[in-house]
Amino acid sequence: MRIAHFSDLHVLDLAGVDARRLWTNKRATGMINLKLNRGHKHKPHAVEAIVADVKAQGVDHVVITGDLSNLALETEFARVRTMIEALGMGADRVSVVPGNHDVYTRGSLRTQRFFNAFREFMTDDRGVAKREHHGSGVFPFARLRDGVVLVGMSSAVPRAPVLSAGHVGAAQMRALRQVLTERATRDLLPVVLMHHPVINPRGAWRSFSRGLAEAAAMREVLAAREGDVLFLHGHLHDRGYRTLQTKSGATVHHVGATSASLLHEHPDRAAGYNVYDVSDGAVGPVHARVYDPEKRSFFDATVTAKSSEFAD
Ligand SMILES: [Fe+2]
Ligand SMILES: [Fe+2]
Repeated sequence: MRIAHFSDLHVLDLAGVDARRLWTNKRATGMINLKLNRGHKHKPHAVEAIVADVKAQGVDHVVITGDLSNLALETEFARVRTMIEALGMGADRVSVVPGNHDVYTRGSLRTQRFFNAFREFMTDDRGVAKREHHGSGVFPFARLRDGVVLVGMSSAVPRAPVLSAGHVGAAQMRALRQVLTERATRDLLPVVLMHHPVINPRGAWRSFSRGLAEAAAMREVLAAREGDVLFLHGHLHDRGYRTLQTKSGATVHHVGATSASLLHEHPDRAAGYNVYDVSDGAVGPVHARVYDPEKRSFFDATVTAKSSEFAD
């Protein structure tokens, strides 16, 4: 099974939006931030190029790990939907989870705007009674596909300006542990999707302001699995691959996708997407398709695992 993973599209669309709606404290800060450093680097044409390239790669499933929008506006979600629909793969073959930008304001969280806009990409196949373990929607979801179980988690919560830390919650973690240990998933490779990584960025301030306070607890849950786990995240706008050992000696492959729209000179940050080939419960070598904005084409790059050091 071949999985394409992209993230952090940060699609901005203010068309027809009442200016008063942009003047919440959080959105105003976001707009200033955009003007200063984000707007000129995030380009929708890179995302459109990714969609076209994924279609040519013979991919079985696409996963998108959050920050699809910039300000959690309906106009942005509509534009992202058009991009996802251009994949031509149908909702059964595309899975998404929200990022902090998709619940940018308390109002967008309260109305579960992201979940309602993309719910067919977050369906649960287990046929069990679903329970809401997170304020952003019905999480975790589990989707069984050709030797894998895709488990969608939400770490997306609104924060005060300049903060983008995630929150999972004890109930959602318990539900994840249950999915990872139940009989129905025993012979499948778990592919866990979550916006925030479970290895925090280095430095106390970065870890506090952008990371996950529950990172160590989440690693415990993943490490309780008997076999290998593929954990896919976004948020850092960096192609990073780390490995963790589970209690039984298996491996958690912890892989980040960079921002799909980011034009950046650093090879690990430049726009693109990751590709995973999974067979018989094992993850093959990870590679990326990296976008060259001048040629408007992609080249292949190997993503090698770095050592795992914890700042938390
Ligand atoms: Fe992001
Ligand atoms: Fe983020």
